[in-house]
Formats: sequence, structure tokens, C-alpha cells
Amino acid sequence: MLKIKKLLSADDLSKEDLMEIIELGKEIVKSPSDFSNSCNGKLLGTLFFEPSTRTRLSFESAMSRLGGKVIGFSDANSSSSQKGESLRDTVKTVSQYVDIIAMRHPMEGAAKLASETADCPIINAGDGGHQHPTQTLTDILTIMETKNTLEGHKIGICGDLKYGRTVHSLLKVMSMFDNNEYVLISPDELKLPDNVKKFVFEDNNLEYEERTNLDDSLEDLDILYMTRIQKERFFSMNQYIRLKDSYVLTKDKLKKAKDDMIILHPLPRVNEISTDVDKDPRAVYFKQAKYGMYVRMALILKLLEANNA
Ligand code: NCD
Repeated sequence: MLKIKKLLSADDLSKEDLMEIIELGKEIVKSPSDFSNSCNGKLLGTLFFEPSTRTRLSFESAMSRLGGKVIGFSDANSSSSQKGESLRDTVKTVSQYVDIIAMRHPMEGAAKLASETADCPIINAGDGGHQHPTQTLTDILTIMETKNTLEGHKIGICGDLKYGRTVHSLLKVMSMFDNNEYVLISPDELKLPDNVKKFVFEDNNLEYEERTNLDDSLEDLDILYMTRIQKERFFSMNQYIRLKDSYVLTKDKLKKAKDDMIILHPLPRVNEISTDVDKDPRAVYFKQAKYGMYVRMALILKLLEANNA
């Protein structure tokens, strides 16, 4: 049984809770239809105050595949926040209708705020540039399914490490596992923030390297995690335009990489992986999207169970 009753940040996940969700995720991958009635009569609310395709649809498909139902909105303009209702009130109200809520909001800390008033479990589906813990569950299940272990990898993380919330959550969780090496590849302007470096690396006595060049880093990586430059978080459009094509992974560049390296990407991709890479067996980012649905099924099941205990 999970110790947590909500999932707001990767910090909430102990190694035990994480592995419990991942183990169930693995069972679901093997036989999804065994779970098709597990959430009969349950309702998920999806409150998306910020655009999303994958995360929202993957939550919705996860709940549908568990036999549950979904209500919600995908655009803040169609919710009462337009009338001036506070986030706390919107969430408090919706929590009277549903059994569990997945929410995304542009403000850092929004999910935590919402969880203080909600009468049902809250899952953070992304709060500003802060955290995105269910993408991390997705990433972890993908690594487990393709590499079989979370230890002993050389992991390159490339792109927008400053605003990329998926990166912050993933690093936090990977830091719980032994013998991994980290190569952080970004333009100088988009380096991993100091506070994230502190809670991931310094607090755990882990080493990391920072680089600006992707090509020189490819050779000995086991995992390459590509990310998009987060246009919507830039204050200056000129800066975005200057940085947006900092990295483009191509089939040609991949010749240098190991045969069993895996390429992950939380998606959406903009330009950072050329489509000629998609057919390479090392490209697992679309499979990763599927694992995202399975692991959200596992998370919903586990949180409903923990909250009913
Ligand atoms: C990510 C996000 O929203 O942070 N997308 C996702 O959830 N799959 C990554 C991104 O938008 O770049």
C-alpha cells in the first residue's frame, strides 16, 4: 500500500512507493485487459488550466481503460476561473464530484495549494516550470522496460534544463538509485537551476558534468533524454529565437552513439529530434508515451486504494 495519498512532486515519492507503482505498471503493460474493470464506478476530474495533449489524454485514456469515467476541462477559459473564482474554490468544488483529480496549472505550487482544500487525492500533472511527477513515472517505467534497471547508467539530459519541469522531477527520482552518471547538456542560459542542483546532486553527494555540446557527449551515453526549449516560459522572445535550435539530434549524429543507448523525450517535440531518427530502434519516445498511459493507470489504482484504506 502506498504511503502517499496524493502526488504533488517527485519529492513525495519514496523509493518504495515509486517501485510499487512501477511494479504495478509493469503488470499492466503485460496484460492491460486484466484491469479493465478495476475502477468501475470511479470518476477522474481533469483540470487543465494550461495546454496539454499527451498528459491530459493519457490520464483520460488511463481512467477509461480502468473502467472509470472522466470529467473536466482542458482550457482555463472554459472554467469559472474566468469569473474570478479562486483555484482553491474550483478544486474544492470539483472534489465534491469526483474521486480523484489530475491538474495542470502554469503557476508553480498550484497543485500543492489545491491539495490543501481538496476532499480527494490530487495528482500534479505539471505546475509551471516546477515539477511533473507523472512524466517521471512514465520515464522510469520506460527505462525499466527497456533497460531492466535504474542503476549504473550514464544519463545525458539535453535541452532546456532551466525551465524543463520533467527534467527536475526525473533527476530527483534518479538520484535515489546507485551508480548513475549525469551529463547535463544545455546552452549556458538554460542550465539546471542551482536549487535543483542542490536537492538532486549536492544533498546526495552525486557528481555531474555540465556541457554545452551534444555531439561530443553522445559516444558513451546509455540514456539520452532530449527536451524541448520551453517557449512559453521565456520572458524575451529574442532569446527564445536565439536558443530554440540549440540542439537537433539527427540520424547521422547517432552513428557515434552506443547501439543500446535509448533516446527518451517527454514530447511534444519541436525540432530537437529530426524525424529521420524515429525509425531507429534506440528511439523509444513514442513507446514512452504508451508507458505513460499504463503508469498513470497504476498510479490512479494505487492512490484510490491508499485513500480508501
Ligand atoms: C512536458 C511538459 O508538459 O512539461 N510534456 C508532457 O507532459 N509530455 C514536456 C514539454 O512540454 O516540453
